[in-house]
Amino acid sequence: MTRYICSECGFSTVTKTGKCPSCGAWGTLGPHAEASHAPKSRVEVVSAVSVTPPARISSGIKELDRVTGGGLVPGGVVLLGGQPGIGKSTLLLQACGFMAEAGVSVLYISGEESSAQVALRASRLGIKSENLLLFCGSDIEDALSRVAGDIGFFVIDSVQAMRVQNPDTPSEGWPGTPAQVRTVAQLVIDKARAMSVPAVLVGHITKDGKIAGPMLLEHMVDVVLSFSGEGYSSYRMLRSAKNRYGGTDELGVFEMKEDGLQAVEDKSGLYWNRSDSVVSGVAMTIALEGSTPLVAEVQTLAAPTPFPYPKRTSRGIELNRFQLLAAVLEKRAGVVCGAYDLYLNIAGGLFIQDPSADLAACVSLASALLDRPALANSCWLGEVGLAGEVRPVTRVSSRLREAERLGITRAIISAREKNDSSWPKNMEIKKVNSLSEALKASGIC
Ligand code: TYD
Ligand code: MG
Repeated sequence: MTRYICSECGFSTVTKTGKCPSCGAWGTLGPHAEASHAPKSRVEVVSAVSVTPPARISSGIKELDRVTGGGLVPGGVVLLGGQPGIGKSTLLLQACGFMAEAGVSVLYISGEESSAQVALRASRLGIKSENLLLFCGSDIEDALSRVAGDIGFFVIDSVQAMRVQNPDTPSEGWPGTPAQVRTVAQLVIDKARAMSVPAVLVGHITKDGKIAGPMLLEHMVDVVLSFSGEGYSSYRMLRSAKNRYGGTDELGVFEMKEDGLQAVEDKSGLYWNRSDSVVSGVAMTIALEGSTPLVAEVQTLAAPTPFPYPKRTSRGIELNRFQLLAAVLEKRAGVVCGAYDLYLNIAGGLFIQDPSADLAACVSLASALLDRPALANSCWLGEVGLAGEVRPVTRVSSRLREAERLGITRAIISAREKNDSSWPKNMEIKKVNSLSEALKASGIC
């Protein structure tokens, strides 16, 4: 029976129709021939202990190595996704430059830019090594045929810009269609495995933040990294969403400068201005970004309003969460919010998803409403329940250690946290059961 495949979305059907029932594109259904690029089945039966794990190869960028779990793995393929202009090509070209300087022959395959454009960027980044080779073109088979000899690392920029030119293959169509993306990725994976060299694929992302192309793409590769940042800020975050060779909770932070990306060592410093003045409405917390603790300054402003529906605005914590915390504060701790417009902001543009910032948000809110500054040099760590109880947070000891490193001398945490020998010795730790106890301990009520 002939199957028909949509060249836009990869939908497969046995009836040929003019319009694809899945994506609605017209004239895209074509007969599916057996793929000449279908992966050959690999047969390997060995004892696990007899196999020595391959040594990692450093990309020359410490943050990138950390996020990948200790460096690139020979034969492993990394997919790097991110919005246009975020710096994917810059990051990879810098890595290629470092590796080339360390003596690895590197091939940078660009399907999007001309060799002049890539060379211009390379000179801007100060890359001079002869070991960095460029291939500019969109034919993936031609490009991969150059991955030979002593090439020790290659980059494909991007998976959506490359295509298989052979008209006999089922993956005809524009570059970037799911069938093309799948075939290109499979060819790259096969090449990396066969040559036992690491490779990085760049992937574009769609408006809703997913990597464009088939979902399958993320299953095919070994590591999925996302590179992100806010439009107004020069900081870029590198996170791992999947890692067959390590954890996924590391965070790499870079700053985009005139001469490329530079690693940011003191990540907490990003969101904290270390001001000494004591004002009402400010409380510090230590949020976790993966396993990286980041200090966050929760600021609240309460302004009296004559209107019957006061305004609630929140940036950095979900608005619904903020409204819920305001209601808990009023009902369980007796701090009346009714006649005030409330504005909450986490300084520096950090968005905190875990509930550990609840206590700091409540303290900052109460401090703003009562116009009394909370204790200086302190941090608040706790989730606040609807009954006004203060609950423990995850990895409290690593948060406390980060607070100590930054010179914070006091922490207000849940009474249900179990003492641990790894907690900082010189920090004053106040344990509280409820929100009202926390407000008393913070010098507000
Ligand atoms: P780029 O790496 O081309 O992004 P992507 O590949 O993710 O689309 O980065 C482009 C942006 O980075 C561009 O707006 C200019 C800026 N940039 C710098 O600020 N400094 C630099 O040294 C380089 C190379 C780029
Ligand atoms: Mg690019």
